[in-house]
Amino acid sequence: MKAAIYPGSFDPVTYGHLDIIRRASEIFDELTVSVLNNKTKTPLFSVEERVKMLKEATSDLPNVTIDSFSGLLIDYAAKKNINVAIRGLRAITDFEYELQIAQTNRKFSDGKLDTVFLTTSLEYAYLSSSTVKEIASFNGDISECVPDFVGRMIYEKYR
Ligand code: PNS
Repeated sequence: MKAAIYPGSFDPVTYGHLDIIRRASEIFDELTVSVLNNKTKTPLFSVEERVKMLKEATSDLPNVTIDSFSGLLIDYAAKKNINVAIRGLRAITDFEYELQIAQTNRKFSDGKLDTVFLTTSLEYAYLSSSTVKEIASFNGDISECVPDFVGRMIYEKYR
């Protein structure tokens, strides 16, 4: 059985993330989507809120589990006995950043943690959690970026 982890901030989850989750869940037998609890960042949503959002947004995918982690991804993956991380690539700028992280993870896990990249579907290539938050903060339309229930939660934060 082949398992993978899709780590990320997911602050909040977007249709871009959900596209990667669905496609990775079709490739791997089990997919754990894990929210990074990063104490050095001030996210819009708490880890609990992000986990709840992801659970609701992936409730139709039976082989997807939602979790959270803090610390190094390689330690979390080793604890879970998983040796593949999934990341989405939108553009060449993502690639430079992601390549460095993937190589670091492979090196410091003694080759145990590999990264599999999925290219984001073109319709979501422009999307990021940051731009969604910025548009919502000015009361713009984010209906094409996130599921409706996520949109309501974002607007609620900026009220
Ligand atoms: O959604 P993001 O913020 O682009 O996700 C980044 C993430 C969570 C994949 C990355 O920051 C990460 O794995 N952080 C955990 C700490 C770690 O393992 N760092 C080592 C790589 S330099």
